[in-house]
Amino acid sequence: MDLCSTVSTGIVIYCIVQFVRFIFADADFTLQWATWSGNTPENKLKGLVVWITGASSGIGEELAYQLARCGSRLILSARRVDELDRVKQHCLECTSLQDKDILVLPLDLLERTSHESKTKTAVQHFGNIDILINNGGRSQRSLCLETSMDVFQALMELNFLGTVSLTKHVLPHMIQRGSGSVVTISSLAGLVGAPLASGYSASKHALQGFFNTLRTELTEYPNILISTVCPGPVQSEIVKNAFTVGQESPTAVDQLHKMATSRCVRLILVGVANNIKEMWIAQQPFLLFCYLWQYAPTWAWFFTGMLGKKRIQNFKAGLDADADYFTNPKPKTS
Ligand SMILES: NC(=O)c1ccc[n+]([C@@H]2O[C@H](COP(=O)([O-])OP(=O)(O)OC[C@H]3O[C@@H](n4cnc5c(N)ncnc54)[C@H](OP(=O)(O)O)[C@@H]3O)[C@@H](O)[C@H]2O)c1
Repeated sequence: MDLCSTVSTGIVIYCIVQFVRFIFADADFTLQWATWSGNTPENKLKGLVVWITGASSGIGEELAYQLARCGSRLILSARRVDELDRVKQHCLECTSLQDKDILVLPLDLLERTSHESKTKTAVQHFGNIDILINNGGRSQRSLCLETSMDVFQALMELNFLGTVSLTKHVLPHMIQRGSGSVVTISSLAGLVGAPLASGYSASKHALQGFFNTLRTELTEYPNILISTVCPGPVQSEIVKNAFTVGQESPTAVDQLHKMATSRCVRLILVGVANNIKEMWIAQQPFLLFCYLWQYAPTWAWFFTGMLGKKRIQNFKAGLDADADYFTNPKPKTS
């Protein structure tokens, strides 16, 4: 075999391997690379003070458990204090953290006037905040034309302005120390349009724009990480808690087709441990959509139109729009 055919064979094999890897991937290439050869959360996040909003359920709750296992000290925030106490108790039972290592700090993201005093309380308790994880938020399941302006406003107030407000109070402490991380749980809906979630998608696009800009303003602080996380469908309470119009919010939805919360959170923590600025975390075909939106938007519009139509048909027919609509949508269970 001459050199030319050896190189060609090598390239073909490399492409096949990458293609197979991509089919089974559940994160973008940079994040995947970090899971194989980067820092581990256990090494990088031990002892750090991490403030998690929306820590009372879903992704935030799982973040608390995995961070506690890494040895991070925690500030747990959300509105439901009893649920935060439950999460704290579970963290203490499963790790060697002490009571003083976990502060339950009730917080309503909508009450922006309280964010300054909440930040002071957090800083006074631990002396500093190493990582802020902006996770609290709410979604939407309704058609744009049937959705009132009040719902659009509520989504922007909570997902966007609430997050911006808390960040603006925490960031000066990080700037003073010259280090820290602000990690914001955006969504794939922050990158692409998601049918039945026009207001939610707008609020997450707003977050993407805000944090992408903030990152460019902080280039003189190389040790401050501004990271946005864009998950696809993940098992949590998000559909149950979503704003809905003209349809009942299902109390129990089939979530087996969605990514396990533990896997999503593990990937987020690997990304944080490796200073990744933007993370795409999704199973196929959602991950493929991300790449299409980024590199081949005309194709992306074509596929999104097809799948969006199906999703809206299911929604109008009273089927569970969040079920696995690639295969077999089921009636909503409530
Ligand atoms: N699950 C997914 O498929 C998915 C996909 C992409 C992005 N995300 C994002 O991931 C984040 C977490 O959502 P999740 O899936 O874990 O849903 P979830 O189980 O419904 O959790 C939402 C959390 O936000 C908190 N929250 C809601 N309103 C709040 C308020 N006014 N002030 C403070 N906290 C508030 C809730 O706590 P309280 O009710 O106790 O306040 C709860 O802890 C959200 O930002 C969501 O947009 C989720």
